[in-house]
Amino acid sequence: MTTLLNNNDDKLTQLLKINDELNHIKDIDSLLDTILSKTRRLTNADAGSIFLLENRMLNFSYVQNDTLKKKDPLNNKQIYSNFSIPVNEKSIAGYVALQGKSLKIDDVHNLDNTVPYSFNKSFDEIAGYKTQSMMTIPLITTRSQVIGVMQIINAKDEAGNPIPFKQADENYLNFFAGSATSAIEKAKMTREIILRMIKMAELRDPKETGSHVNRVASYSIEIFQKWAEYHNLKYSEIKNYKDILRIAAMLHDVGKVAISDVILKKPAKLSDEEFKIMKTHAYQGAKLFRGNVSELDALSYEIAYTHHEKWNGRGYPRKLKGEDIPLSGRIVALADVYDALISARVYKKAWKESDVIDTIKQESGHHFDPEIVEIFLSIYDVIEAIRLKFPDLDIRTFI
Ligand code: C2E
Ligand code: SIN
Ligand code: SIN
Ligand code: FE
Ligand code: FE
Repeated sequence: MTTLLNNNDDKLTQLLKINDELNHIKDIDSLLDTILSKTRRLTNADAGSIFLLENRMLNFSYVQNDTLKKKDPLNNKQIYSNFSIPVNEKSIAGYVALQGKSLKIDDVHNLDNTVPYSFNKSFDEIAGYKTQSMMTIPLITTRSQVIGVMQIINAKDEAGNPIPFKQADENYLNFFAGSATSAIEKAKMTREIILRMIKMAELRDPKETGSHVNRVASYSIEIFQKWAEYHNLKYSEIKNYKDILRIAAMLHDVGKVAISDVILKKPAKLSDEEFKIMKTHAYQGAKLFRGNVSELDALSYEIAYTHHEKWNGRGYPRKLKGEDIPLSGRIVALADVYDALISARVYKKAWKESDVIDTIKQESGHHFDPEIVEIFLSIYDVIEAIRLKFPDLDIRTFI
């Protein structure tokens, strides 16, 4: 256990440092990713997931699994799994959320027959994984509200064999869960504020949950992740960039706030004059972030400004060409058009998937950067998982 520290003072110092780090992360997904990485590192756990309480269900919100990642390093699909567990005593996670107390289990296949919960084998069966030891920690706010649970799985010895978690792990993880919870609350608020800005900008239906922008943002970070791996970017750079890319990509069309409702909601093709006005949304959006006071502002500016440029120089507003278009703009351009074509809009029906793919292939080297098209097609199973996770309908499926 090379990364484990020797004494409790060091551990405390480490926890305080992590607390500081968590408070600098803006996006909820990258926050959950960091929380799980740190927790797993502190306890040498193979896997873990976080469930967040939404509409009285525990929604599966993030997962990491070293063993499965090793088997299939290219696959990020798991993160976009979409399921929820009711808050009741039947599941381990539900029980912990109800009790508000952490629970250490040495072997989930050998539970005491007096306990009300049982281990749900379906995840293991679907994933081809064997869960043994498990620690489940409630995420509790300073106002004593449970906002979710974190579950870490299979502590490992030096040889990588699963062993039970230690009592000491349980103690400091409860402490750590406090910092994690306040960071999660902050990031959730950031996400909500952004979704509200977007609703204002696009004057959406209040029932709309922000699926479009969530999809465009998720496609974008997955494309970026692959691009970054091919270009040997450092892990810390990738992580930091993904954090702000998700938010900035969600804001790509925020300049539509300046466009009149008559144009924005027109249920038909725009006239030349109307389209000319519509095209100003790119610059209008950029203007909102012009101060560039933070990295997030700078990236939001870049994406708003360049997401309608085309690789062949025939886009707008500046007719930038090729690599003069920032990478972020090239990525969001593809993510945005894919989503626009495959979904229904006020002015058009959803296209057939095969037509969408054909168009994207045809536009490689014209509208789109060919490398981005290639990456997009190579992770298409992840793209589809994202589409399933953020459907247009306001209906979620539960299992
Ligand atoms: P959007 O709906 O988010 O679409 C983003 C981009 O996807 C479009 O950028 C375009 O490149 C592509 N796209 C969307 N639908 C189609 C389509 O049916 N055929 C093709 N070939 N490409 C499509 P674009 O064209 O610069 O439009 C920017 C924004 O202007 C759109 O964002 C939408 O809000 C609005 N818009 C464009 N055309 C119309 C229209 O005919 N009627 C209305 N009401 N709005 C339009
Ligand atoms: C549970 O906590 O029982 C559900 C999650 C799991 O089975 O890993
Ligand atoms: C375009 O693709 O250039 C305009 C969008 C449309 O055809 O509706
Ligand atoms: Fe746009
Ligand atoms: Fe768009």
